[in-house]
Amino acid sequence: MIKYLGSKRTLVGVLGAIAQAAEAKTAVDLFTGTTRVAQEFKRQGLAVIASDSATYSDILAKCYLEADAEKVDLVSLSQKIAYLNALPGRSGYVTKNFCEQARFFQPKNGQRIDAIREELEANFKTDIDYPILLTALMLAADHVDSTTGQHMAYLKNWSHRSGNDLELLVPDLITGTGKSVLGLAEDVVADLPEVDLLYMDPPYNQHRYFTNYHIWETLVRWDNPEPYGIAMKRIDSREAHTHSVFNKRKKMPPAFKDVITKAKAKTVVVSYNNESWVEPIDIAEALLKNHESVALLEFDYKRYIGSQIGIYNKSGAKVGSVGERKNKELIFIAGETSRVESIEDLVAGRGIEPRT
Ligand SMILES: C[S@@+](CC[C@H](N)C(=O)[O-])C[C@H]1O[C@@H](n2cnc3c(N)ncnc32)[C@H](O)[C@@H]1O
Repeated sequence: MIKYLGSKRTLVGVLGAIAQAAEAKTAVDLFTGTTRVAQEFKRQGLAVIASDSATYSDILAKCYLEADAEKVDLVSLSQKIAYLNALPGRSGYVTKNFCEQARFFQPKNGQRIDAIREELEANFKTDIDYPILLTALMLAADHVDSTTGQHMAYLKNWSHRSGNDLELLVPDLITGTGKSVLGLAEDVVADLPEVDLLYMDPPYNQHRYFTNYHIWETLVRWDNPEPYGIAMKRIDSREAHTHSVFNKRKKMPPAFKDVITKAKAKTVVVSYNNESWVEPIDIAEALLKNHESVALLEFDYKRYIGSQIGIYNKSGAKVGSVGERKNKELIFIAGETSRVESIEDLVAGRGIEPRT
C-alpha cells in the first residue's frame, strides 16, 4: 500500500470487525484514499463502493475493488508485469521533473517509471488489467521514493530505499465485488445507493491531498502538467477546482454536516480527528438527524480504550469536548440503538486490536 497521510492502517481490523458486528452486506467507503478500509470490507465479503476525488484513488479502487481476484487471469497479468519490468529506462517527464529538477526518485528508477508509464499509455490503455498495472507501477515507485511519505518535499540525502531497483509486483487482489466512484463526496453522496454500512474519513485540516500526492495524480493522469516550485507541483494546484472544501476552515463544517445528513446507510461510521475544525457535538447532532443513537469510541494505537460519549438517544444526546488526544483514533458510530450497542460491546468486550 502507498504511504498516505491519515491512512487508517491501524484501524482497519477494528473497522472490519465493526462491519461484521453491523451484519453489513453492503458498504460505502467515502474519502477512500488508499482504499485500504474498502479493501478490508471486501475481504469480509461485503460488496463495496469506494469514492474519492483523487484520480490515483480511483485507479487503486478499480484495481482492489472492481477487479475480482477470481476472474483475473493471473498468468496473463504476471506476463504483462514481467514485460513491463524488462523495459529499458528512457528519460521523460518523471526523470526530468522528479529526478533532476527535484529528487523524489533516483534517475535510474525515474527512467524506468517513464518507460513503463509511456508503454501503458501507448499500448495498455484499453487492456482489462490497465488499473492493476498502473497500481503496480504506483506501488513500485512508492517503494523506491526519497520522501517522508508525501510529495511536498523530498529528502536532502537520498533515502536508502531509493537506491533499490524499481520492481512491479502483482498487487494482492481480492475476491468479491466492488465499484469505484470518482468525485467530490458532496456531489456524489446523495446519488449513492443505500447501504448497510457507510464509513467516512474526510481530511480534517488544511493539508491538501491534491498537492501532497501530486506525483500520483500526474502518474495516473499522464497529462504533462507544467510543474512549479521546489516540489515541482502541478500548475493546476493553484486552480479553485482542485481545492477541497474539506481543507477550508470555514467551509468544512457545513459541508461535512451536509454529507453526513445525506449519507444513506443503516450504520454510519465516521473517523474523527481531534485537530478537526468541527466540534464532536456538531457531528453527533448531524448523525442524530437520521439515526437513533450515536457513540464515540476511542482507540489508542493498540486497542479500544473507551467510549467518550456513551450511547445517547435523540433526546438525551450530550457531547463534551474531546480535547487533546495524541496518537488516538476516534470513531463515531451511528444507527439503531441496539446495533450501536452491540458494536460497542463487541469492540469493548472482545478487545479487538488495531494492527500495529
Ligand atoms: C484522511 S484521507 C482518507 C484516508 C483513507 N481512509 C485511507 O485509509 O487511506 C482523506 C481523503 O479525502 C479525499 N478528499 C479530499 N477532499 C475530498 C472531497 N471533497 N470529496 C471526496 N474526497 C475528498 C482525499 O483525496 C483523501 O484521499
